Amino acid sequence: MAKIALFFVSQDGQTNKIAHTLSSHLTSSAHRVTLFDLRDTAVSASDIEEADLVIVLAAIRYGFHLKPAERFLSTYGDKLCKKPLVMLSVNLTARKPHKRTIEHSVYLQKWLKRHPLEPRIVRAIAGKLDYPSYRFFDRFMIQLIMRITKGPTDPSVTVEFTDWDQVKELAEEISQLV
Ligand SMILES: Cc1cc2nc3c(=O)[nH]c(=O)nc-3n(C[C@H](O)[C@H](O)[C@H](O)COP(=O)(O)O)c2cc1C
Repeated sequence: MAKIALFFVSQDGQTNKIAHTLSSHLTSSAHRVTLFDLRDTAVSASDIEEADLVIVLAAIRYGFHLKPAERFLSTYGDKLCKKPLVMLSVNLTARKPHKRTIEHSVYLQKWLKRHPLEPRIVRAIAGKLDYPSYRFFDRFMIQLIMRITKGPTDPSVTVEFTDWDQVKELAEEISQLV
């Protein structure tokens, strides 16, 4: 049984849902998972030091991972370098399966460039598109992105693109690391 620390940050809730699903898969593989919501939990270096493996899971907004994740990676980079690390990005580009790996995801490439931490696994996971809940400007911008990338543009649409089989497979892959 390994101790896994899962640090996540979500704005609209989908990353939170992914964090809890990933955690329950890992728990059923007999690991002990502690979840840290980076928005409302004060993290300390010992939370990382005490873990056998660390997962960082963060949503993207306009090309950048949410600030609490960026702060966490910058602040604790030296500690994270010493642990098996998994970095997971939640975004809508990952609705296309080939955009989930470092080779084809510009978001992942830029993330690693900013935080050169040598994670064992880096992957993107598809999030949720929820036009009705977006403010006018955000809806307009996401529609623009969707038009360019040939996704849904109907403003009444909500689509959960998250591939839950991928999340399960990731849990299995992570289990192999510890
Ligand atoms: C304002 C806004 C900006 C976004 N920007 C991007 C983006 O630049 N690239 C992308 O692939 N997805 C983008 N997304 C999609 C989110 O990453 C996706 O909806 C994800 O599920 C959000 O996670 P959360 O529900 O945990 O906040 C954006 C979504 C919103 C609402």
